Amino acid sequence: QKGGYDHFMLKEIYEQPRALADTVHPRISDGLPSFEAQDDIPEGFWRQFDTISIVACGTAMHAGMIGKNLIERLARIPVECDIASEFRYRDPILGKHSLVLLISQSGETADTLAALRLARERGATTLAVVNVTGSSIAREADYVIRTFAGPEIAVASTKAYSVQLSVMYLIAIRLALANRAVDDARARELTSGLLGAIETTKDVLGLNVEIKEYIKRYESLRDLFFLGRGLDYALSMEGSLKLKEISYIHCEAYAAGELKHGTISLVTEGVPVVAVATQETLLPKMVSNIKEVHSRGADVLLVCKQGLEVDPEIYSKRLDLPALDDLFMPVVGVIVLQLLAYHTAVLRGCDVDKPRNLAKSVTVE
Ligand code: F6R
Repeated sequence: QKGGYDHFMLKEIYEQPRALADTVHPRISDGLPSFEAQDDIPEGFWRQFDTISIVACGTAMHAGMIGKNLIERLARIPVECDIASEFRYRDPILGKHSLVLLISQSGETADTLAALRLARERGATTLAVVNVTGSSIAREADYVIRTFAGPEIAVASTKAYSVQLSVMYLIAIRLALANRAVDDARARELTSGLLGAIETTKDVLGLNVEIKEYIKRYESLRDLFFLGRGLDYALSMEGSLKLKEISYIHCEAYAAGELKHGTISLVTEGVPVVAVATQETLLPKMVSNIKEVHSRGADVLLVCKQGLEVDPEIYSKRLDLPALDDLFMPVVGVIVLQLLAYHTAVLRGCDVDKPRNLAKSVTVE
């Protein structure tokens, strides 16, 4: 059942190249994203909205954070991204030109479902990105985009996140094109960038052994910090959630520029920091934040992009990701963070596939 892997989680991490291809390929038509054939969403759909709310919980919300960044950047439409349990109770401003995008692996998460119902009541158009066919969220949403991760057994979500992310790219490019924020040529270039990123996920899995070796120092750890900026910050949120939920290490993900506004007081000799620095445009700023923690004794693991120059004095270990355009780095970056969480949990003897206190589908509020 585990296909030769020790845990479902590892199996599911390795299934990502396939899950991504299965989700994205049926939605490419003539070199551009299209949801017409697969999801019955007409091209005109994407031109109707002046605001977008992305609503989800946990890992799915982290995919939404990246979606917000991509849509705003490419399509220039304002996007808010909310935790479903917060969205519901803050009297959100919605109308007939609002799109509410719900993301859920199970399609049964109680707060996400309630947010969907609220959005419909308020006259917004609802679009759900779900992995489970026939689930409540899939049934009740106006439009549905199915992800094809296949069944996810491990409680900690891995492949479902990746496919949600890939749909965020497709939506962002489609919206950008429909709203004329990019021309046809640029949209094609972005689409092929996404396909290229998916191809390279196989190479990133090759870092498995190196990661397993490195994390031996995390065996008796209590606290760890993730740092990142922009897309790397959103990715750090996911890396931190993954590590804490299965290894029981207390972690925090910090926007690197925010650290000096309080939290840096916790960084002392030997405190491990995972610095996610895949964004070339933000690299000088990230490097100065890494210097700040390094000078206080932090033990820095640098997750970087191949070819970027960083002074080796300021980190203990560097993991290099394929040199893709900044925009696509989360597609490959998340795999490193998943493997980091997985091996740390195994090393610490945790029940990787069934962490304590957690359920695969959260149907209570
Ligand atoms: C973490 C994890 C959870 C879920 C969250 C939402 O690894 O799996 O944070 O992402 O409970 O679940 P879905 O996507 O089913 O709505």
